[in-house]
Amino acid sequence: MPPRNSRSHKFLPYLAFILFSAIFVFKVDIIISQTISGAARRNNLESTSSSAIVVGNGTFHRHFLVAWGEGRARMLEDGELLTLSLDKSSGSGFESKKVFLFAKIDMQIKLVPGNAAGTVTTYYLSSEGDHHDEIDFEFLGNSSGNPYTLHTNVFSQGKGEREQQFFLWFDPTQDFHTYSILWNPKTIVFYVDNIPIREFKNAEKLGVPFPKDQPMRIFSSLWNADDWATQGGRVKTNWALAPFTASYRNFSADGCIWSYRTRSTSCNSNDFLTKPVLTMELDQRSRGRMKRLQRELMIYDYCKDKWRFPNGPGPECEIN
Ligand SMILES: *[C@@H]1O[C@H](CO)[C@@H](O)[C@H](O)[C@H]1NC(C)=O
Ligand SMILES: *[C@@H]1O[C@H](CO)[C@@H](O)[C@H](O)[C@H]1NC(C)=O
Ligand SMILES: *[C@@H]1O[C@H](CO)[C@@H](O)[C@H](O)[C@H]1NC(C)=O
Repeated sequence: MPPRNSRSHKFLPYLAFILFSAIFVFKVDIIISQTISGAARRNNLESTSSSAIVVGNGTFHRHFLVAWGEGRARMLEDGELLTLSLDKSSGSGFESKKVFLFAKIDMQIKLVPGNAAGTVTTYYLSSEGDHHDEIDFEFLGNSSGNPYTLHTNVFSQGKGEREQQFFLWFDPTQDFHTYSILWNPKTIVFYVDNIPIREFKNAEKLGVPFPKDQPMRIFSSLWNADDWATQGGRVKTNWALAPFTASYRNFSADGCIWSYRTRSTSCNSNDFLTKPVLTMELDQRSRGRMKRLQRELMIYDYCKDKWRFPNGPGPECEIN
């Protein structure tokens, strides 16, 4: 008896170890399978039901990547604030992890203050490849006391040359303001603080390609373009003032997320009949307000540029 007893005592640690290992493996197995089914659920969600992403506090990290200018693009305040900076050796930029096929995107931006001559801050949607689509906001900096220029453009299937430029009715460097793009199969609308400033309607009936087949990612950058940006390139960047910084917060997107893996979007055909961002167009009142604002603040309109387009502007100019 005593020998046997002592033997089983000797085995006790091994037994405990085996038991512990078994439990450990079982537990890990559960965790792994939960992760896999979670991922499957998420993927499923991406491909079958409509989804929106809203970025609140601490989520810039989740939805954006620093694309270039390492160290000059920073996510701060637990991911609530993002800043881009520009110095003599480089600018910086970020991009969304997700790709959209129709969405309304909103971002609050505070532009480079003071003498921002030569700097350009961009915020845009773009697809990839040769015949790309693109919807652009660009903010052309100016010398102190002179107004920024808000430059907009729409590319469809690689063709742009649809610039419209505006002065803003506020100083965009004093505080954050909301810049939004609505992009659905019927129209593209640019908004500033929820006020429409430009519309580019689907004019396929007039033979103008409309961005509707290529998914687009959100990009933003701060870079130097003092060879052309400020007063036609006459005013150069004052590098003694570098680094120049623009700030971003409170991003939100409501729309259809494209999956390259399944080659499908998170929206279904019913969403295109019922989801406001996918069906929305400007009503008469908003369009009237936009036209009045354009008469006051638009400083360049490609539709009226007879020098560049002697044969007349694109047919879309008739309906926008
Ligand atoms: C800068 O200010 C000048 C003078 O007001 C103006 O003509 C110009 O359009 C402004 N914007 C840029 C980007 O040069
Ligand atoms: C953040 O954005 C949302 C939607 O665009 C808006 O309703 C909300 O007021 C914004 N929050 C702040 C703090 O500006
Ligand atoms: C994030 O939280 C802070 C305080 O915790 C609050 O002041 C701020 O308005 C919040 N921002 C957004 C976008 O909700």
